[in-house]
Amino acid sequence: MTSVFIVTYKEAPAIDMPLPPPLRLWVVVVVVVLVVTVVVKPSGALQRCIFDEVQAQVRVVRAAPNHTDNLTNEPGLRLSAGEEHPLTAGQRTSNQGGRTGVSVKQRHLSTRREMTSSPAASPQPIRIHTWIPRESDNITDAERSRLTSAVEEAVKKVSSLLSVNSILGPLLLSRDVNKYCKFVWSNSRNANYNRCGRANMNYRNETCLDVIIPDDHLTGCDIYPEPDSPGRTVLRAEGAGIPDTDFLLYLHIRSTDKCRAQPHVLAYAVHCQTDTHGRPVAGLVVICRHKLREAAYNHQTTVQTVIHELFHALGFSKDLFHTWRDCSSTTQGGAGCSPLGKLVHSDGSGQMRIYSQSVISALQEHLASADPELGGPLENLHVAAGRVSSHWESRVLRGSIMTAVLEDSTTVRIDPVTLAALQDTGWYTVNLSQAQSLVWGQGDGATFGSLSNCKDNSSSFFCTGSELGCHFLHLHKGECQTDPYLEGCRVFKPLKNASECWKGENTRQSTVEERSGEIWGFESRCFFSNLTRQRQLPVLSSPLEGRCYRHRCTAPNRYRIQVSGSDWMDCPAGGTIQIKGFQGLVSCPQRRLCLYPDITPPPGDVNPASHTSNPYEMFASVPVLAFAAAAAAVCLLAVSYRKCRSCRDRIHTVPEDHSHP
Ligand SMILES: *[C@@H]1O[C@H](CO)[C@@H](O)[C@H](O)[C@H]1NC(C)=O
Ligand SMILES: *[C@@H]1O[C@H](CO)[C@@H](O)[C@H](O)[C@H]1NC(C)=O
Ligand SMILES: *[C@@H]1O[C@H](CO)[C@@H](O)[C@H](O)[C@H]1NC(C)=O
Ligand SMILES: *[C@@H]1O[C@H](CO)[C@@H](O)[C@H](O)[C@H]1NC(C)=O
Ligand SMILES: [Zn+2]
Repeated sequence: MTSVFIVTYKEAPAIDMPLPPPLRLWVVVVVVVLVVTVVVKPSGALQRCIFDEVQAQVRVVRAAPNHTDNLTNEPGLRLSAGEEHPLTAGQRTSNQGGRTGVSVKQRHLSTRREMTSSPAASPQPIRIHTWIPRESDNITDAERSRLTSAVEEAVKKVSSLLSVNSILGPLLLSRDVNKYCKFVWSNSRNANYNRCGRANMNYRNETCLDVIIPDDHLTGCDIYPEPDSPGRTVLRAEGAGIPDTDFLLYLHIRSTDKCRAQPHVLAYAVHCQTDTHGRPVAGLVVICRHKLREAAYNHQTTVQTVIHELFHALGFSKDLFHTWRDCSSTTQGGAGCSPLGKLVHSDGSGQMRIYSQSVISALQEHLASADPELGGPLENLHVAAGRVSSHWESRVLRGSIMTAVLEDSTTVRIDPVTLAALQDTGWYTVNLSQAQSLVWGQGDGATFGSLSNCKDNSSSFFCTGSELGCHFLHLHKGECQTDPYLEGCRVFKPLKNASECWKGENTRQSTVEERSGEIWGFESRCFFSNLTRQRQLPVLSSPLEGRCYRHRCTAPNRYRIQVSGSDWMDCPAGGTIQIKGFQGLVSCPQRRLCLYPDITPPPGDVNPASHTSNPYEMFASVPVLAFAAAAAAVCLLAVSYRKCRSCRDRIHTVPEDHSHP
């Protein structure tokens, strides 16, 4: 039988912001619960996140300063980046004064674990510990292996992006005093002021959404039946905590009502507890089991979904925006961070934006504009006027991992604006150099993506009809479409079927493709074209549409292309070219190709013998390449055709074929 040692900080080391008096009364357990849900549409792997809708159904409790004159037996998470070393047992005893209950407590001094984070050490990659509750449905080995590999990859990615001041000692979650306690001694003259006087006999456990948090992960709690007597009973013993952990991720595999109610829900997430600075320290991701069973299961989509949810749970949440802190002027350790207060408000046009410094800078840089009104635009669909959602506005930041709708996994980016937002929480040091190019809207100015901008034909990122074309990354053929998030704007979305130019197995041998000279494969990209082989006469003038041709970079924004049976031709960005043997033309996209080394087909779909993965490797050897290409064009064609046939065969023997959307 153990009990909780109670600490009384007479004057807590006030390195962090001094707290206003009401906050110093006693620690309230923080139970902030946020729910993220990702919905996957069956076609085209379109995902929609209904985070805010689900969250609205969940009770949210908020508070938790660590600097208290009197800590009750509910110490909460005494986690403080700026806090000095945990008090030693001796110090505690003297601070406790007469209240320190004798030998029993002394015994527990040695086992009591103070949760503090390292004050002086530099931030370290966030350690995310994954814990699967026993009540997770029994899953098959195949499902488990899909799950673990996706979650591991997501966690690894997030840890490489975000650093925190590591928690020293094991992570211990808090108990909700409002749940276990009927009343708290409220007279400050009482020795047991702010301690729990009566247990709630109905108290069972702490939960993170529908997961029961094991007692071993939780602090203990005691009851003080008399206002002035040190006598107490232990209601729950202190747990051992989770070692080497900065964020505890409960991972639940379920067929929940939420999974069933929304047929395309892949996963959803909540965060359940924060530290005293508001940084979330525990959360839950629920993976809907049916998704793990599907033949069309997509590993990369699952990884991105988990990252999206982790980002919500770690701070990209409308309920946490107001708790973000400015730590820019502080030294290491987070000392002296100041609250940013209300960050979200409407710009002149009614667009809700989040105004925090790194976000503004990142967006200004992205759109090449110095406009100070360029806060991070927030999604307004399904949100009452004046309210916001926990996603970026997808007209402006399409392709970002934090938009409400995620398209094909090859088009989803962990973009600079999202990383800037995580930096602006004040809880993380973010490795911004790992940001992926967003491309969407790059350099298009402050009005990019506004409702008028998308319809006035001034931006090459939007389209107007329902024509066929190219997705803006030019990896996929696309169709001009809209959706509710676009509010009437239209964009080229990847075709539902075989849209990838870079997939050799999309090669079709119909006469249509033959006539247009298309080539599929790792080096192929989508071009607007209306090429038609000359021998087909008479040729009617046809509109440009998305076609797949091979390309090779020769310099930034400079490239050559090859059409079936043609030589390699310079394709001047922003211009058009004609190809010998064809009528019509190919349009050469401006600032979309050979500018972003990280816009490439996924490496898993590569036939390593047939390409160079880094397009820039070719810059140095242009003449050789051009020569080789021209000389061997016909031969290459034959070779790549054979290769594609064999690679198709191979792909079909791989058990997890991700090629079917
Ligand atoms: C950021 O990430 C890059 C790429 O992974 C790595 O080389 C670099 O060392 C990281 N920087 C910091 C400060 O961790
Ligand atoms: C934009 O282009 C489309 C198609 O070419 C045309 O129908 C429409 O009137 C144009 N809109 C504006 C505002 O110029
Ligand atoms: C997708 O392609 C397959 C095989 O070519 C075809 O059977 C199917 O009908 C296509 N689906 C759509 C929606 O075009
Ligand atoms: C191809 O498109 C261009 C520009 O729209 C047009 O002028 C030309 O007539 C078209 N040619 C063919 C063969 O369709
Ligand atoms: Zn979301």
